[in-house]
Amino acid sequence: MIKNIWKSEKYAKRYNNIYSDSKNEFYEALKILKLNKKDKLADFGCGNGDFLKLVFRKVDCAVGVDISHAQLNEASKKFKGVKNIKLFKSDFLSFKSGEVFNKGFARKSLHHLNDVKKAKFFKKISKFFTKGSLFLIYDGIFFDFERKELKKNWEKLISDCENYYGKDWEKKKEDVIFCFKKEYPTGIKDWEKAVKNGGFKIIKSGKKSSFYGWILLKKEL
Ligand SMILES: C[S@@+](CC[C@H](N)C(=O)[O-])C[C@H]1O[C@@H](n2cnc3c(N)ncnc32)[C@H](O)[C@@H]1O
Repeated sequence: MIKNIWKSEKYAKRYNNIYSDSKNEFYEALKILKLNKKDKLADFGCGNGDFLKLVFRKVDCAVGVDISHAQLNEASKKFKGVKNIKLFKSDFLSFKSGEVFNKGFARKSLHHLNDVKKAKFFKKISKFFTKGSLFLIYDGIFFDFERKELKKNWEKLISDCENYYGKDWEKKKEDVIFCFKKEYPTGIKDWEKAVKNGGFKIIKSGKKSSFYGWILLKKEL
């Protein structure tokens, strides 16, 4: 099972070493989400808590959700004595909360769910988000074609990867190709369908490459 790789401490450490260049995107995310002191934020797949660390002083409260004990352990070291952060060990699809949120965040995490499960996830979390909530996703999003056209677009995709990752492509190649083939980055139209299942609508997007970027959702119901 794909989610089991995240139960391995070794895998979590490797991810945190190779992909520790997230700061710029986290700062960009703070601006897009326009956080303020009334906000209640949930970070799905919070990993080692690096985003929450930038967030907790700006919001009323925040929760981090992750399935990996190793990642949550790293995260908890950052929040000793911090009262407005809670970390939950949970699978995305089993998420429950006593809290209702108005801001959501998920970076490089929801592609672990296939499209059917993405739709279930948004349905499931819908009741924990108020109408008008903003939810920002950074993930594998095919902006120019749909997932079912992956094979047809493979050569162009790999060439886009070489451009996007530059000198880092060699060390990231194995993970990225694994992700395209075995995990579930998906086309923008399929993201749209999945989020609609929870009453969310894509109101803005940012394309970083043909296969990666962000979408900002607003909860309409
Ligand atoms: C690629 S990391 C991203 C971490 C962080 N958001 C970042 O931007 O660096 C994906 C995270 O999602 C978590 N994850 C993967 N599948 C999950 C699931 N089904 N339920 C909850 N968390 C999951 C992993 O444990 C991991 O910490």
